[in-house]
Amino acid sequence: MYQEQATLRLISNSLLIGGIALIFLIGAIAWLVARQAVTPVRRAASVAQRLEAGDLGERMPVSGEDDLARLATSFNSMADSLQTQIRQLEALSRVQQRFVSDVSHELRTPLTTVRMAADLIHDSRQEFTVPVARSAELLSGELDRFEELLADLLEISRFDAGFAALDTEPVDLEELVDRVVLGARPLAERRGSALILERATGDAEADVDPRRVERIIRNLVVNAVEHGEGRPICIAVEGNETAVAVLVEDHGVGLRPGEAGLVFNRFWRADPARARHTGGTGLGLAISLEDAHLHHGWLQAWGMPGEGARFRLTLPRRQDLPIGESPLPLVPRGVEEDAE
Ligand SMILES: Nc1ncnc2c1ncn2[C@@H]1O[C@H](COP(=O)(O)OP(=O)(O)O)[C@@H](O)[C@H]1O
Ligand SMILES: [Mg+2]
Repeated sequence: MYQEQATLRLISNSLLIGGIALIFLIGAIAWLVARQAVTPVRRAASVAQRLEAGDLGERMPVSGEDDLARLATSFNSMADSLQTQIRQLEALSRVQQRFVSDVSHELRTPLTTVRMAADLIHDSRQEFTVPVARSAELLSGELDRFEELLADLLEISRFDAGFAALDTEPVDLEELVDRVVLGARPLAERRGSALILERATGDAEADVDPRRVERIIRNLVVNAVEHGEGRPICIAVEGNETAVAVLVEDHGVGLRPGEAGLVFNRFWRADPARARHTGGTGLGLAISLEDAHLHHGWLQAWGMPGEGARFRLTLPRRQDLPIGESPLPLVPRGVEEDAE
């Protein structure tokens, strides 16, 4: 049976070789097909990533007429439409910013004239009848508020336009807080609130823009007096290696849950009816937050209804040094963090 055995071996050998060759062939074909499908998908993913990173001009290359080419075409048209809409929104937002800034500027000239006339009337109010004299006083008070509002609007439009510049110099925050507290004393006395200053244990010097920081702290202290219901207000200053913090705490109406984030919104007020006649313009904390961000600092709020509110300003000691941790706690000790 030698003959048959040799034939069988030949058949099985050729089957084996053929099988191996077939496996390699199938593998190669599978690899080629997979590569053809996967490469465009990978390319699409990387284009999508670049789009996400803000490179709105990025597009996918379209080749052939298969399903992948159709995907690329619809992807590109989606990117086109997104880009157009974002451009439109940007243009609209610029127009609105310009409008606010222009209107504020335009209003300044007539307001100066009105102011001078109102001052004249106000000075000679003794010669008028009682209702007219009262009107003269009202006019003067409302004009004060109008001027403040206009100044705040101009300031905020400067931030929006990106024109706000930081003028830093080494400042002792404790001295600055002292000055603000001295200025706020008369108002606090009228409202019956004592202002208590807690001095820093170490030095509280930082590279900041004194005009801006003074404005932030004055706004926080005036807010605390206005919402403090006559209870004492505590102002603490403290520093660590990377940052200096100022904490203004009152024990008045406080903030309801969720309001700690809202207070920094433009024109937001907890009680719109009441605050329209007292307090500032509703832009105070919005401007303060912009000022804090300009310093790469933090401005945060915490409050509980009926318990009071705490506002903490944390500023880096130097502009090139990021804040590690704030030297003062925002949430009072003994209160759970999640109550914020
Ligand atoms: N210390 C505080 N306690 C309670 N509410 C506050 C306090 N400070 C600010 N708020 C709330 O935040 C709002 C916005 O404040 P702000 O931007 O300074 O504007 P304004 O003082 O002109 O109302 C206030 O109207 C008030 O409702
Ligand atoms: Mg205010």
